[in-house]
Amino acid sequence: MAFDYEMKKRLRNDCAEALIMSADEAAKLIEDGMVVGVSGFTPSGYPKAVPLALAERVKNGEEIHVELFTGASVGPEIDTALVEAGIVTRRLPYQTNATLRNAINAGQVKYIDMHLSQSPQYVNMGFLPKPDVALVEALAITEEGNLILTTAVGNTPTFVKNADTVIVELAMKKPLALEGMHDIYITENPPHRKPINICHPADRIGTTYVECGWDKIKAIVISDFIDKTRPLADIKEDERKIGENIIAFFKEEVKAGRLTNELLPLQSGVGSVANAVLYGLIDSEFENLTCYTEVVQDSMLDLLRSGKATMASTTSISPSPAGQEKFFEEVEFFKDKIIFRPEEISNNPEVARRLGVIAMNTALEVDIYGNVNSTHVMGKKMMNGIGGSGDFSRNAGISIFTTSSIAKNGDISSIVPMVSHVDHTEHEVMVIVTEQGYADLRGLSPKERAVKIIENCAHPDYRDQLMDYFNRACAAAPCQTPHILDEALSWHADFEKNGTMKK
Ligand code: COA
Repeated sequence: MAFDYEMKKRLRNDCAEALIMSADEAAKLIEDGMVVGVSGFTPSGYPKAVPLALAERVKNGEEIHVELFTGASVGPEIDTALVEAGIVTRRLPYQTNATLRNAINAGQVKYIDMHLSQSPQYVNMGFLPKPDVALVEALAITEEGNLILTTAVGNTPTFVKNADTVIVELAMKKPLALEGMHDIYITENPPHRKPINICHPADRIGTTYVECGWDKIKAIVISDFIDKTRPLADIKEDERKIGENIIAFFKEEVKAGRLTNELLPLQSGVGSVANAVLYGLIDSEFENLTCYTEVVQDSMLDLLRSGKATMASTTSISPSPAGQEKFFEEVEFFKDKIIFRPEEISNNPEVARRLGVIAMNTALEVDIYGNVNSTHVMGKKMMNGIGGSGDFSRNAGISIFTTSSIAKNGDISSIVPMVSHVDHTEHEVMVIVTEQGYADLRGLSPKERAVKIIENCAHPDYRDQLMDYFNRACAAAPCQTPHILDEALSWHADFEKNGTMKK
């Protein structure tokens, strides 16, 4: 490709030209046994050409195994291609990919499921090995060799800081207008860490680029790839009702004087429930909303377009393919409304607590005392991971968990006597919402919580069964958190044996 005027807008130092090479050549910088840190968060802002070239090398007979560190989930060019090629031996801190999930559950990939805000600290403090190579999708490289990122920041600043070799995939299909939307700040290790000076989601504290330098950049690959983001799923009836119940809860909070119509900065996970809540807010009396979250999807863009929300702080933007195209056409509109931060900051406990974030995350199952399992199907098989849900819920102003009250056509009750795996404990779960209603657990003892969760959130098909368990557990021994231990997990065992939890 000619080093023309267009290219010079993205590669702002003449020394860049000599570093341009094919993905195949760049992939040769990755050797067997290395730790590779890649950019990206959700299927957004991740490298594509070099991972595919790496997978090709293995298909052609080379033996290469790497430990793979990411920001969160990435696209199939990494998690499908590299896993199918048998390259990935260890993977962290989050994933949502079916091929990788199967490899994890088959014991082929060692998976470290982590609080996302802690993952860069693990590298910086030496709890994890430093990446040998940082593989980064960038919009441009400045004259000084610093990196302007694309649609996600994730853990890229930490990977670049710690790696000696940086490979850049220059994303030609992403508009240069994104430059300026990033706010890159990385923390010092304790005891030198300073307060993170964000008192409003719109506060900026860093640079618009990731510090790197030409000495580290060993390859530049020109890429025409685009992120493989997920299509927008239809909002199901249950999800719509969950959204309505969350908005009903917000209204009660306003009535009680605990929130105003501006609410508090919103954090919401990805998926249809988040879309249902955010679309519900567009047609509500709430206004001047802000978001302090880790991912912006179509509904949050629409909330910003509607004027109901004024800005969103995030580490990535991951709309549907059509939403992505529209966003690229409208980048100028969003430029002062979206800030991309490293995930250590977008998900930072200190900031979430200061801002009083309203955290809305999803559970697979919830128990009658308010403990939440978000990750392990039947307590054993990894679904996705904890992601940022713990970063936010443990430190939120208000932490909300949602789930449909039943799964697998009603053969599973998502409200159970005891969760089969604990990700979020009764101590940080404030409100449970299902399509049946919501249970506000704040200030309630475990036994009070149990009654509220069963009455307000359980499916009618399972309410009597749950109440019967709870009453018998209370009768068996008067204590703080009554359980009949040999029966508490029998619901899961019944499902595995008989295909249903119904007694
Ligand atoms: N017991 C067993 N399986 C259950 C279940 C339960 N109580 N509830 C749901 N499932 C199954 C579903 O049947 C479905 O199975 P399938 O893949 O075989 O169809 C699967 O789990 C996913 O359920 P679904 O209702 O489609 O979930 P979702 O897309 O709304 O995702 C989580 C729910 C919890 C998996 C997802 O939100 C997640 O990974 N959360 C953790 C990370 C997080 O919160 N990130 C956001 C932070 S910002």
